Amino acid sequence: MKESENLRIPLIAGNWKMFKTAAEARETAAQLIQLVDDVKNVEIMIAPPFTSLSVVAEIIQNSRIGLGAQNLHWAKEGAFTGEISASMLVSAGCEYVIIGHSERRQYFGETDETVHQKLHAAIQAGLIPILCVGETGTQRDEKKTFSVLDKQMENGLEKLTFDAYHLLVVAYEPVWAIGTGKTASPDQVQEVHLYLRRHIEKQFGEALAKATRILYGGSVKPNNITELMALPDVDGALVGGASLQPDVFSKIIHF
Ligand code: 13P
Repeated sequence: MKESENLRIPLIAGNWKMFKTAAEARETAAQLIQLVDDVKNVEIMIAPPFTSLSVVAEIIQNSRIGLGAQNLHWAKEGAFTGEISASMLVSAGCEYVIIGHSERRQYFGETDETVHQKLHAAIQAGLIPILCVGETGTQRDEKKTFSVLDKQMENGLEKLTFDAYHLLVVAYEPVWAIGTGKTASPDQVQEVHLYLRRHIEKQFGEALAKATRILYGGSVKPNNITELMALPDVDGALVGGASLQPDVFSKIIHF
């Protein structure tokens, strides 16, 4: 049994990215509710696109599934065409928000600075932030994995405060493993997760390090989830492609 199992309830989160219309999202969520009704001691979250948040919120209302968003803007409100604030997410029924996903860093100019502002806004609004970090394939080849992670963690989390009610979730998503079918090996995953936990300990102290859930993301599938979840410092998964089909995602949730 994992030493700190009681402290960290596993979280299996589905990032639907830019997939599904509102009607499709509603149908997927409805099917998922039935399939995971028997699951105990696992937190489940789905993050549909903004346009589906309200319909999904309605359908999962009395279920075991929580709602998350894939991004937010840090300002409370303002002339920021196309953006969504933390309070808007809360009013749409969100409990979680994914911040700093590598696709946002890669394609939409997300930086550690904007990640930091978004984390701050999410915490202020009472959302559980899921901070995504991870190195590219080139950075790994050049042995820069740990320095990249240090920078993403340090700059993203600088001067923020967390406590038992404002917990942090970190998702380690090696960019080279996202949507490629290449999962990091169990040794690679455990090495990085332990490193991240030690980093949190240095930056925030032991209590938060022990309580922070560190999820793995990158080609998580029903056939590799059991092995990943058995690792001592893996507390859940952030699942992309395999979270889009309720039967497949349900198998992952039943790891
Ligand atoms: P895949 O599971 O499709 O590799 O995506 C992982 C991811 O980016 C989750 O946020």
